Amino acid sequence: MKYEKEISRRRTFAIISHPDAGKTTLTEKLLLFGGAIQVAGAVKSNKIKKHATSDFMEIERQRGISVATSVMSFEYKDTLINLLDTPGHKDFAEDTYRTLTAVDSVILVIDSVNGVEEQTRKLMEVCRMRDTPVIVFVNKMDRDGKLPFDLLDEIEKELNISLHPLSWPINMGKEFKGVYNLHDKTLQLFTPSQKATEENTVPIENINDELLDEKVGPRDAAQLREDVELLDGVYGPLDNEQYLAAKVAPVFFGSAVNNFGVRELLDTFINIAPRPQPRATDKREVSPDEDKFTGFIFKIHANLDPRHRDRIAFLRVCSGRFARNTFYHHSRIQKDVRFSNPYSFLAREKDVIEEAYPGDVIGLFDTGNFKIGDTLTEGEDLQFTGIPTFSPELFKELVNKDPMKTKQMEKGIRQLTDEGVAQLFTQHGGNRKIIGCVGELQFEVIQYRLLQEYSASCSFVPLSFYKACWITGEKKAIDDFVRFKQSNVMEDKDGNLVYLALSEWFLNTERQNNPDIEFHFTSEFKTAMAK
Ligand code: G4P
Repeated sequence: MKYEKEISRRRTFAIISHPDAGKTTLTEKLLLFGGAIQVAGAVKSNKIKKHATSDFMEIERQRGISVATSVMSFEYKDTLINLLDTPGHKDFAEDTYRTLTAVDSVILVIDSVNGVEEQTRKLMEVCRMRDTPVIVFVNKMDRDGKLPFDLLDEIEKELNISLHPLSWPINMGKEFKGVYNLHDKTLQLFTPSQKATEENTVPIENINDELLDEKVGPRDAAQLREDVELLDGVYGPLDNEQYLAAKVAPVFFGSAVNNFGVRELLDTFINIAPRPQPRATDKREVSPDEDKFTGFIFKIHANLDPRHRDRIAFLRVCSGRFARNTFYHHSRIQKDVRFSNPYSFLAREKDVIEEAYPGDVIGLFDTGNFKIGDTLTEGEDLQFTGIPTFSPELFKELVNKDPMKTKQMEKGIRQLTDEGVAQLFTQHGGNRKIIGCVGELQFEVIQYRLLQEYSASCSFVPLSFYKACWITGEKKAIDDFVRFKQSNVMEDKDGNLVYLALSEWFLNTERQNNPDIEFHFTSEFKTAMAK
């Protein structure tokens, strides 16, 4: 346990939310507390504004912003916090899912007015797949939202997780008076548009303290006493083990834009959030405490300057110590690689670093060696798992409009799909190319970037496939299936066979008719089979 001191002071997490719930605002307030930024408004939202769905110049601009805010590292009370940004736009959901593979916990922001929304549900599903511990921040308490007990009910039912409130609001909207901290029994008074300060914190002896009536009025004091009695009876003290096991999610109420409830959230976060956790590989579990370095790539970002093809690969350190200018083993391509300018994201400045520890995320310049999920080690041949590709939701055939540029097109589409912009399926035994994406926006990004960066012009023909399933089974069964379903069987980039189903009905029928074939909904069937 050579690096225990460094590991135990690190917390790596992401803030997730449905767009507009307040993720950017909360991020900014956390950075203010960490001293990483000095003024409000410094964090530019990396969300692609709703009206810009067909404006790819906007996408490019956002791409610039999102490199800068991909990882935000700051220190707070001796804790080194790595906050990983996730794109809010649903068309970039895959990017968010991948980022979630590199964190140890998340803070989920819920808008008190809208409650659980579509993206909230999807993001929580991903967290659940990985048993990622969650803290819930119910935001916008300064607006007339849903009643707190109703909200808790809704979140528990919709997201299928047990909650444990650690603070409790006194009214909401115009009548919002503050929150009562159920743990340290303090009262935090709310003054709109004013920073929550120490003076606004009122320590009270117990919930029957008369000071409470004085501060919030007898009616609200009585209501709070009633609520707290109920809450104490139902919840009791928080069982931290349950939180770490992702069985229970602590809940805070506040208002990010008013910087209210944010400090409590951060103070609790650094106390209870998990330190860098072990991670699964195809061979064994890697513990952060191991002396030897390991890490994996979870995100690749292309250079914004089309004259430079290099890219930035984001690596999460999983164990040991990463050092600059040292050769590491790239297990997929069986090559040793080293990096002379790895950088960190401390205080949002890109600084060349000499070393990094488990929990850290570093940016590595890449000239095309990396794919999402690639693993670096000190020699051991292993591959981190748990970075699956999901079935895309939209499928289109790629049409090369300029046969003279076929080579550029092939290279471009390969590199863009390595970055994880979209998935590429090639006809089994043919050359037909189908691109699968989560949202329409990505097709526009691909078309635009192929032209700008590779001088290759393409168009897309929409296809009405419903889902892509990776298929495995005995050779004979697979061969027969491929022969009969030729036009629906493709290969992914790693040569795995994928069946494209036209509808749910077709998929179910094929599953019934082919009991010897397994249909997998994510690309991680190899690990599923190994288990
Ligand atoms: P996102 O990243 O999750 O998409 O949300 P973001 O922080 O951008 O917040 C979305 C909108 O909600 C913003 O308003 C923001 O000011 C507002 N907001 C955030 N926290 C609170 C809160 O506690 N109370 C209230 N009432 N509003 C909040 P906007 O008008 O879209 O943008 P802006 O012009 O204010 O930047």
